[in-house]
Amino acid sequence: MRLRTLSSAFLPLLLDISSHFSLTTAAPSPQAPSHGPPPPDPSFLPHRILAGISVVDTPIVRDAEAYAKRYSPGSYNHIMRSWLWGVLHLRHNATLASQVDLEVHAVGLMLHDIASDHNLSHPFVSPDRRFEVDSAIAAADFIRSHPDGKKWPDWRVQRVWDGIALHAEPKLALYKEPDVFAIYWGNELEWSYGKPAGERKGITEEEREAVMKEFPNEGGLDEGPSTGLLWFVAWYCKYKPESTYALWGHGAGLFAGGTSAV
Ligand SMILES: *[C@@H]1O[C@H](CO)[C@@H](O)[C@H](O)[C@H]1NC(C)=O
Ligand SMILES: *[C@@H]1O[C@H](CO)[C@@H](O)[C@H](O)[C@H]1NC(C)=O
Repeated sequence: MRLRTLSSAFLPLLLDISSHFSLTTAAPSPQAPSHGPPPPDPSFLPHRILAGISVVDTPIVRDAEAYAKRYSPGSYNHIMRSWLWGVLHLRHNATLASQVDLEVHAVGLMLHDIASDHNLSHPFVSPDRRFEVDSAIAAADFIRSHPDGKKWPDWRVQRVWDGIALHAEPKLALYKEPDVFAIYWGNELEWSYGKPAGERKGITEEEREAVMKEFPNEGGLDEGPSTGLLWFVAWYCKYKPESTYALWGHGAGLFAGGTSAV
């Protein structure tokens, strides 16, 4: 009865709307439109060799690494591995490599967990925002206060912000610009590579071993998805429930006990 009343009330409105707008939709574009010029030619950027991989080596990239080490020491090896998985992903896909800005990629991956410490007194950790958003804000502030970052156009800072904020949200990140989904993949490969039928993006076992040797998986978040990730996320369920509830980490609340979000 109530439903009938409602639909009869809305039907004229719907008919009115459809007469003004065509309801047939164009085929969706698979990727967000790209804003900003193509990335700089990477051959002009200085590089160094890390775990046998050639990586971009500019002052802001080096300073981002030091920043990550200082503010998120517990996830340092994880972020370095994520960066290197990301670089290997590009190494195995020349098309993607030509679309990605290496400094945006490096800074985004190295700072993607900068506000992930389990410490509400940490300077970048808010009581109410998702840690991905806290990290994105901290990363943008880092770039804006860096002598070279001050010269970055807004769209570069935005790509870092988006890549970090969406790094655990493939349903959104994968439809964003290559810079953004390449940041997503760097972190994702940390979790998916070892799974049966998981994504490997062309990375070989030899490449993986070299990375694991340089930045081993030890303690805390680095213990891996079955123990480390659950423990990592359970903390958010307990201490930041309003920004964890109904999101990807929600299920871990079952293990958080006490004041969990579930
Ligand atoms: C390489 O990257 C391009 C551009 O993002 C993508 O369209 C293509 O599917 C990728 N190729 C492989 C083999 O993953
Ligand atoms: C939490 O962060 C504050 C501020 O940085 C620091 O003084 C304190 O030692 C941290 N606590 C732990 C347990 O790491």
